[in-house]
Amino acid sequence: MKIGILGSGLMGAKLGTIFARAGHEVVFSYARSEQKLKRLAREAGKNAKAGTPREAAEDADVVLLAVHWSRVNDVLKQAGDLAGKIIITCSLPMDEENTELVVGGKSSGAEELAKKVPKTAVVQAFNTVPSEVLFGVFEARKKSKRPSLIICGDDAKAKDVAAGLIRDVGFDPVDVGPLQMARYSEPFTMLIAKIAYEGDGGPELAYRFEWYS
Ligand SMILES: NC(=O)c1ccc[n+]([C@@H]2O[C@H](COP(=O)([O-])OP(=O)(O)OC[C@H]3O[C@@H](n4cnc5c(N)ncnc54)[C@H](OP(=O)(O)O)[C@@H]3O)[C@@H](O)[C@H]2O)c1
Repeated sequence: MKIGILGSGLMGAKLGTIFARAGHEVVFSYARSEQKLKRLAREAGKNAKAGTPREAAEDADVVLLAVHWSRVNDVLKQAGDLAGKIIITCSLPMDEENTELVVGGKSSGAEELAKKVPKTAVVQAFNTVPSEVLFGVFEARKKSKRPSLIICGDDAKAKDVAAGLIRDVGFDPVDVGPLQMARYSEPFTMLIAKIAYEGDGGPELAYRFEWYS
């Protein structure tokens, strides 16, 4: 799969690296330094390269949106036409200080994003775990008990593609339904962040749903 990374920070750099190591073709884009993008591509191996947001998006089957909420419009403008693409967003609608959600209740960041990118299939995933846990989950992917990862979206085929990528990283996808469910998953992330960054166990935290039926 060809994956364009829009936003190569804590989330985008790690997920792009894992996708490349899992065999996908990855283009890292949108950082403040081109050198950083080149270094990430080098470290991620032969399947990765650096590019502009437009280059990352143009041939991509899947685009990962991993920027601060305040940068969404800018990166989308730079990426150009995304019609027909699957957009996986881990971006949360946070304020500048990263302390509060600025969208919630009757909408969500994922739904507001979907309005900005018509003719695309938006899937929300990877937003409910801290970046610090991603490499650890990837390293542990052969173990039988995998952590869960909430996924939502309105396009079943796009969710299937996203679920495959989620499995490649080492999570067990839990499809909670339409994109509207992001109204609940985004505040859930605030709870996860509280445990990860203020709890005693540290930020290398994932979660797992268990059924006893
Ligand atoms: N971090 C987490 O654990 C986590 C977990 C769940 C969800 N999220 C959400 O995921 C999204 C990404 O988070 P993150 O922590 O990965 O953010 P981040 O580390 O700040 O990465 C954002 C990327 O955007 C780039 N960028 C920022 N301003 C730019 C500009 N003016 N021009 C070009 N590039 C610019 C940054 O460049 P540089 O590389 O040069 O800084 C970086 O590559 C956010 O919406 C966040 O709320 C994060």
